[in-house]
Amino acid sequence: MKAITRIEQSLAAAIALGEDSSCPPKLAGAIRHAVFPGGARIRPQLCLAVAQACGDDDPLLSDATAVAIELLHCASLVHDDLPCFDDAPTRRGRASVHWAYGEPLAVLAGDALIVRAFQTLALCAVHSPLRLPGLLQTVARSVGTPNGIVAGQAWESEPRVSLTDYQRAKTGSLFVAATAGGAQAAGADPLPWRALGEWLGEAYQVADDIRDVAADPELLGKPVGQDVALGRPSAAIELGLGGALEYFNQLIANASDSIPECRGAAQLRLLVQSEAERLVPVAMAEALLKRVAASTVVAS
Ligand code: FPP
Ligand code: MG
Repeated sequence: MKAITRIEQSLAAAIALGEDSSCPPKLAGAIRHAVFPGGARIRPQLCLAVAQACGDDDPLLSDATAVAIELLHCASLVHDDLPCFDDAPTRRGRASVHWAYGEPLAVLAGDALIVRAFQTLALCAVHSPLRLPGLLQTVARSVGTPNGIVAGQAWESEPRVSLTDYQRAKTGSLFVAATAGGAQAAGADPLPWRALGEWLGEAYQVADDIRDVAADPELLGKPVGQDVALGRPSAAIELGLGGALEYFNQLIANASDSIPECRGAAQLRLLVQSEAERLVPVAMAEALLKRVAASTVVAS
């Protein structure tokens, strides 16, 4: 079965678990809205790809890990779009959850998704009792304090922040959970897989910063210009568009080089390359470099 089919089926099962007639219908609707239809599902795909590279001998556990990580990601986007953070009206090309269901239900939908993520993992306690405790730690660390996505978001409330610390926590941590967790679910040592998540997470955030400055909101399915408007740390602002593009390419190369020697290494390198092209398509990069060159000529 294709990885994306595994992911969608497992996500559907995890969401259906909380949807009997006793659940408040609007809350159930808000939760569904947050998860379906999804985005690229890159974190769960990465998790399953690493699990496969490590033998994937416990597919129920790797599925649960991939699902937990994606549910946490969806929860973080629901909260990120709230008026107290980015106040974004759109996400994935349609209304954000708070826009469609109101702020109280958006807060609650995010809360419920966090709980469902850990419940999905907890359901593996009987058949994978030895691997589960370490996995729970990996996933929990990627979300909480001091270095998870919650801490990453909190850096936006501090007067000073290092761009790297901010990006590592806000975005990188869940990518690390995807790579390290994928390895752990397959019974492998997670340590050699952390670097891949760290590089990819940083590359993803730099691409997001570039697109926030340069992309078309219609194509992106969410507002652009948020980083400048909200005074947020951004690689595109700090390094300029040309510098951010160069940095992105370097991060992708580092991600590829960090893949540990294993049976699935070539396949994983292909995944990294196709993700790089999806994040910053060659045509977009060329158009941006032309824009940078034109503005340099005008300035000089
Ligand atoms: C998108 O960033 C947001 C994140 C990567 C994380 C946000 C985290 C929280 C709101 C903390 C709460 C966490 C949970 C698990 C509920 P962005 O605004 O740069 O990207 P965008 O353009 O996609 O909105
Ligand atoms: Mg946002």
